Amino acid sequence: MNTFKTLPPGPKTHSSIQMIQWLSNTLKYMDSARQNYGDLFTTYLASKNPTVYVSDPQAIQKIFDGESKQFSNPGNQLFKPFLGQYSLITLTEATHQRHRQLIMPSFHGKHLKAYAQTIDDLTEQIFAPLTPGQTFSAYGATRAISGKIILSVALGINKGERVRKLNELISSLLNYAKYPFVSSFFFVPWLRKDLGRWSPWGYIRHLMRQIDELIYAEIAERRQNYDPERTDILNLMMAAKDEAGEGLSDRELRDEIVTLVVAGQDGIASAMAWSLYWVHRLPEVRDKLRQEIDSLGAKPNLLDIARLSYLTAVSQEILRISPVEIQPQPRIVTSPIKLLDYELPVGTVVVPSIYLVHQREDLYPEPQKFKPERFLERKFSYYEYLPFGGGSRRCIGAAFSMLIVKSIIAIGVSRYQLELKSDRPVYPTLSGLNLVPKDDVKMTFLGKRTTNSDRPQAVLERI
Ligand code: HEM
Repeated sequence: MNTFKTLPPGPKTHSSIQMIQWLSNTLKYMDSARQNYGDLFTTYLASKNPTVYVSDPQAIQKIFDGESKQFSNPGNQLFKPFLGQYSLITLTEATHQRHRQLIMPSFHGKHLKAYAQTIDDLTEQIFAPLTPGQTFSAYGATRAISGKIILSVALGINKGERVRKLNELISSLLNYAKYPFVSSFFFVPWLRKDLGRWSPWGYIRHLMRQIDELIYAEIAERRQNYDPERTDILNLMMAAKDEAGEGLSDRELRDEIVTLVVAGQDGIASAMAWSLYWVHRLPEVRDKLRQEIDSLGAKPNLLDIARLSYLTAVSQEILRISPVEIQPQPRIVTSPIKLLDYELPVGTVVVPSIYLVHQREDLYPEPQKFKPERFLERKFSYYEYLPFGGGSRRCIGAAFSMLIVKSIIAIGVSRYQLELKSDRPVYPTLSGLNLVPKDDVKMTFLGKRTTNSDRPQAVLERI
């Protein structure tokens, strides 16, 4: 006898009411659904098909591991008008895998190491203009720098008119796309009417034409004077070949460069702001970090810093408690699958909930508390700790992002004296699917810190 039930239960209120609850306080909606219905619950929020949220690690393992057989992974087609048809985010199946194989090496090993100096230099730019006693907006500052970091690493140029203009245009596009009337273009294609540059869609087209012009100009120059010594992502992507010896076309390169900036910019900005918040909220964490970084001597390099164990645990805990992205892209069941006590029918939309897994009491006792030690005491699997998603769509910028998080923490605590302007907690709010600091992170810049040995701690405390 089949003892499996088909769909798990879930909130009973009308889907439009649920949508209002989700939009007004997503985390509360998720917490209460999990509390009432358990590790799997069904909603009808985003689609006419049932959507099952999953926060059980074993079930998540089944989803990520069974991707090619029992789930389709439709990519996010809503972004096609912006990112193009050759973007990792919109591509599916074999072409998606081909692109991942061509792009992923640029984010690993020796290539990642080559980006460390750029990351360090640009992160430093957040603090360089500040004067002692000045209050600044940490999230504003990290938003201003995050696109620059990705573009610099992607194109290998961190100065000059082209990169400045591109950064400005992509930021304008992202900010504009957050207005509700503009985000409706994602869902309602017939609204996309180019009635000239002053019409909403016309303005988007105008920005995109300029972005494309600049990227294509860069690609053309590179193809003309190809320099195999360059280590930026564009160069590596241009040199990469698949098994058939085929490389990426100009159109594919354009779509992927825009994708990297769009996919990474907001996440990094938010992760950097949360990092400054958490390490300054808890002085004991900040002091321990200082001690650890100081132990490397004067002017340690980012790659040595990145290997430090307490710093690594702090970075992991930041992305656990403030996971930046609350969920990965949905997967769709293509052949019935058993998850816990349920057998999900074909067409069910399945979403592993990063946020809910990171709040599990059994994995993370006192989940609301910031405790980096948990990452020193035990190892978590990819299904228990998943800020970067998993399976065939796991974030390709994961290692790169961790390096950036470590960089801002290290620079913030070891080179400068900063403090939070207020003791009040900063709550998260959703911007798209990103968890960002609700009222920004307001900080005071107290001054530069000279390193470990040359000044006693008491003097360092208030420069
Ligand atoms: C702290 C920062 C970041 C977080 C928390 C984050 C998180 C994520 C998550 C959860 C996914 C979805 C995975 C899935 O569907 O299973 C994703 C996908 C992706 N991320 Fe990130 N990300 C971050 C930064 C970046 C950066 C810096 C880049 C690029 C420079 C990047 C590029 C991408 C791309 C291209 C995808 C799509 C991968 C695919 O569909 O194959 N991300 N990221």
